[in-house]
Amino acid sequence: MVKENLNIGGNVFPRRLDRPLPRAGKAEGVWIEDTEGRRYLDASGGAIVVNVGHGREEIARAVSEQIIAYDYIHPTMFTTPVVEALATALAAHTPDGVNRFYFLSGGAEAVETAIKLARQIHLAACRPQKIRLISRWKSYHGLTLGALSAMGRTAFRAPYAPLLSDAVHIPPPYCLRCSYGLQFPECRLRCALALEETILNLGPETVSAFLAETVGGGTLAACPPPEGYFSVVREICDRYDVLLILDEVMCGMGRTGRWFACEHEDVIPDMITLGKGLSGGTVALSAVGVRSTHYDLIREESGGFVHGGTFSHHPVAAAAGLAVVRILERERLVERVARYGSLLGDLLKEDLGDLPWTADVRGIGFLWGIELVCDRKTNTPFDRSEQVTEKIWEAMFQKGVIVYKSTGIAGIHGDALLVAPPFVITVDEMRRIAATLREALLETLGA
Ligand SMILES: Cc1ncc(COP(=O)(O)O)c(C=O)c1O
Repeated sequence: MVKENLNIGGNVFPRRLDRPLPRAGKAEGVWIEDTEGRRYLDASGGAIVVNVGHGREEIARAVSEQIIAYDYIHPTMFTTPVVEALATALAAHTPDGVNRFYFLSGGAEAVETAIKLARQIHLAACRPQKIRLISRWKSYHGLTLGALSAMGRTAFRAPYAPLLSDAVHIPPPYCLRCSYGLQFPECRLRCALALEETILNLGPETVSAFLAETVGGGTLAACPPPEGYFSVVREICDRYDVLLILDEVMCGMGRTGRWFACEHEDVIPDMITLGKGLSGGTVALSAVGVRSTHYDLIREESGGFVHGGTFSHHPVAAAAGLAVVRILERERLVERVARYGSLLGDLLKEDLGDLPWTADVRGIGFLWGIELVCDRKTNTPFDRSEQVTEKIWEAMFQKGVIVYKSTGIAGIHGDALLVAPPFVITVDEMRRIAATLREALLETLGA
């Protein structure tokens, strides 16, 4: 069916060079329709972006009114009420003290901004030797060179390895394939203690920040950390003046059933990165939230943050972000995710849990991952050359349900799919996702 609807992109340098794609025509709620009239249930909100659903007129109106009122205003020349209003709206929900926001366009840009901001905070605090970044294997932080250096997905790093800068990676909290061969809780969070060990090995006076996704997303396939992980991490960071940057580009803005995933453990980061759902996917918008104590220090001691960007603090993007926050608040969508999140997980477990390839169905809120293996007893992954994730994804797409691919959870191997629908999805639509996944798995791997 897809083949009849050819589009190799004309003059576009497309994201996929290996096959033509259908042309999207319209999108509303959890549904996308192509120009041939085929409908797709968007069970991943694209790249886990479309949190409030497609086609929100309220956002369109806010953006259009903003362009008419004032569109591009350079952020070093003016402040704008709409950017101020978005910052205030976010501060009402972010963890205590994280109430200054620097707005940008993409998640990777936010991550890089946070890494630079950490450095600048240490300079302002007269700790000039603190330059090194610690992050985690199997993480996802974006594809620009700085973010990619921090990221821990082998296949994405490999072609650019000579261009990457120095970041030290520690094992992630990923109990299914624990790097230490231990089990929670007997492990006593060995993976969190690895942070302290690494800080000591590098020399605490050299370590600037620890960067981690609060819930492992694009690479770890919706893997919440074991209880207590971030409390231990926070203590270690405090002990050695290492700043904690939590990347909530994917798991923030209500995705886990709390406004920010770090609320589940009551951990307050020094910085939080946001993107994706911040604008509901309508326009490019990301942000770094930072504790006001750090902001005050920079203002007093360095007189400014040596950073910028033509599209930073953009009023039109801020109008979209503000409309999203208001929708989340008014329609109580974060509460809806909290209420229906475990149901979504239960449906996936019921329909997939008994299949011989399901190693794990895990997640939180509306962020679920299904990890697939060829041998469930040993958790042996399929060889990447089998392209299992891609085949199942394609089968799902042909059946009109869109999920998100996650590969590389076991070195270069490993297959997983993410289910992360818009927050407005109905229970019947959730059932359909789970049932279609079962069909696609049986058809693809059952023969
Ligand atoms: C946790 C996390 N951080 C950063 C990014 C990068 O965001 P972007 O693709 O907008 O640069 C992503 C993208 O998937 C992400 O999931």
